[in-house]
Amino acid sequence: MYVTAGALAALAELVRLHLPGRRVSLITDSTVGRLYEEWESGASGSWRPTGRAAVEAHAYDWVTRLSVEPGEQSKTRDRWIELTDALFDRHLGRDSGIVALGGGVVGDLAGFVAATFARGVPYIQVPTTLLAMLDSSVGGKTGVDTPHGKNLVGAFHPPAVVVADPLVLRTLPDREYRAGLAEAVKHGLIADAAYFETMERDSTGLLARTPAALEELVRRSVAIKAEVVSADEREGGRRAVLNAGHTVAHAIELVSEFRVIHGEAVGLGLLAETAMAERLGIADAGLHSRVRALLGRLGLPIRLPLPLPAERLVDAMAADKKNRGSQIRCAFPARLGTMAGGGSEWTHPADLQTLLAGLDAIG
Ligand SMILES: NC(=O)c1ccc[n+]([C@@H]2O[C@H](COP(=O)([O-])OP(=O)(O)OC[C@H]3O[C@@H](n4cnc5c(N)ncnc54)[C@H](O)[C@@H]3O)[C@@H](O)[C@H]2O)c1
Ligand SMILES: [Zn+2]
Repeated sequence: MYVTAGALAALAELVRLHLPGRRVSLITDSTVGRLYEEWESGASGSWRPTGRAAVEAHAYDWVTRLSVEPGEQSKTRDRWIELTDALFDRHLGRDSGIVALGGGVVGDLAGFVAATFARGVPYIQVPTTLLAMLDSSVGGKTGVDTPHGKNLVGAFHPPAVVVADPLVLRTLPDREYRAGLAEAVKHGLIADAAYFETMERDSTGLLARTPAALEELVRRSVAIKAEVVSADEREGGRRAVLNAGHTVAHAIELVSEFRVIHGEAVGLGLLAETAMAERLGIADAGLHSRVRALLGRLGLPIRLPLPLPAERLVDAMAADKKNRGSQIRCAFPARLGTMAGGGSEWTHPADLQTLLAGLDAIG
């Protein structure tokens, strides 16, 4: 994985290096495609590397460029069919390759095309959102949504390489950027107290998106996720710690009909779940208020921004595919940087009183 300010300018070389001899197609969404075109043609400074990162950009001769509409509504089997057929129309086969340029939607969709096209071709992830850089491009999960739920059809297909250029984050809308920061807070909470403390100290640099702060952020988060995932490639045990905050977060996304976006929901989920963990005596007292202070400083919501009935949230959690039997389970922290659990048991049941108390903390 490359995490370097200006790395995108070297994309052509990286494609030749990591997909040698292959005919390569670029898959993106229309927003990112436009930014990339402006940048390639020199029309826009927004994605252009500056200062020490300035390198001569070389264009790559893509076999084809394919684009979908931006947003979750493109992560469907219909788009998968269209993209796959477009590749066959261009007489591509097993000797081809794909570059996925965009946020998590493009990464998951183009990754799933790569996983299945001609029984699988290699691909390169070029994440352009903070969430995609520090979360979705690590771990090898690809897939699409169905009317029955998100990510229900998919495959494990790790990219040949990930190219993360933190400078592209400068054009990301504020709300998307902050939402990504919630996952970084989660990484600090679950595995690295010093990282959490760095974010506490440099929240201003993070919000100003200085290249140094961005590079450090992406590097440390990726290292944490990669470490957890590599120890548990197919989700038997410890990988569950990455789900911290997510039991509640998925319910908030669902019940709010995705008006609360994923990262915002994760921040709220971390707050509800740290409150629960404290109440259960699993987490040290004071952890919840510390997480709340950092999320607040990073401009993330610390209370539900719209009224969502607790009963509906609990129902949504009960329906979550990760629950065993009828128990609602969460991955709980024990203290800053350390999750509670061990062996193959990294989640804990949460009874109704506890769930309601957790939701009350964000109500
Ligand atoms: N595979 C995994 O392990 C994994 C993990 C977490 C999330 N995900 C998936 O990721 C998806 C969410 O990803 P996301 O938050 O990146 O959303 P996204 O891909 O929809 O991107 C958000 C928006 O930002 C725009 N954008 C992207 N890069 C930009 C840039 N540099 N400048 C300006 N605008 C830019 C996009 O066009 C889009 O409108 C969800 O579908 C989720 O399920 C997957
Ligand atoms: Zn997440």
